[in-house]
Amino acid sequence: MSVPPAALSVERPIDPILESYEAVAYESKAVPLAEPDVMAAAAILHGLTPPAPERARVLELGCGTGGNLIAMAMRLRKATFLGVDLSPAQIERASYAVSELGLQNVTVLANSIADIDASFGQFDYIICHGVYSWVPAPIRDAILRVCAENLAPNGIAYVSYNTYPGWHRRGMVREILKFNDDPALPPSARVSRARDLANMLGAADPADDSPHGLVLHSELVWGEATSGRCRGRDPGGRRNLCDSVAGRVRNGSGQPKT
Ligand SMILES: C[S@@+](CC[C@H](N)C(=O)[O-])C[C@H]1O[C@@H](n2cnc3c(N)ncnc32)[C@H](O)[C@@H]1O
Repeated sequence: MSVPPAALSVERPIDPILESYEAVAYESKAVPLAEPDVMAAAAILHGLTPPAPERARVLELGCGTGGNLIAMAMRLRKATFLGVDLSPAQIERASYAVSELGLQNVTVLANSIADIDASFGQFDYIICHGVYSWVPAPIRDAILRVCAENLAPNGIAYVSYNTYPGWHRRGMVREILKFNDDPALPPSARVSRARDLANMLGAADPADDSPHGLVLHSELVWGEATSGRCRGRDPGGRRNLCDSVAGRVRNGSGQPKT
């Protein structure tokens, strides 16, 4: 796999999405549906002949802190994995985990998806989870372009995006937290504010056991339970917040594709 040097050394205008993930990292974790062998099984069931996952070349677009990429690389030791994310702070965390685990089959790069071209080579599996609904149109186009140009023959691409009606549940919590948000505050203060409100609402009884109350309650409790898990050792010595509640007030549309 040939990989050009990171393109972030080039001066560019500040990107609000980049700024947001630099300030508050996203807690990335394993995504079972995006595992190459799960994708291969689904492809076979659809009559395709996907490449063998065991020795596959895998590209993950928007890999965040590497939670999914690293989990795959630990299991498929003979496959090779390239993770690309816009945020150098998240890539630094991913890179730290890769070296601590001694993984030889993973490379992570701080690059925009828009900068991926033919020189990156071909991949048997391209994974893009939790990105498409949150990025502007030119990046959405770039995701599809990379899937068209960098996918090997018989390769499989996975691009997730939010869909209705299921996303109404998460969107409802996002709207509530955004209503109480003040984008002028520093990111850590915005997260604290959102968590305080989520805690308060999550602790309240869904008094009438209505479907609405139960759904809201379970979503808030889930958000709080999964928040703050990746605070901890930070290779740069900085305190890097990592919070799933942050995702609810982050900029970007998050809107389901219609
Ligand atoms: C909601 S997070 C999802 C992270 C990971 N895929 C997961 O599911 O846990 C979206 C990720 O997309 C990355 N991202 C946004 N715009 C990007 C771009 N233009 N190029 C590469 N990564 C980008 C962000 O830095 C962030 O890590």
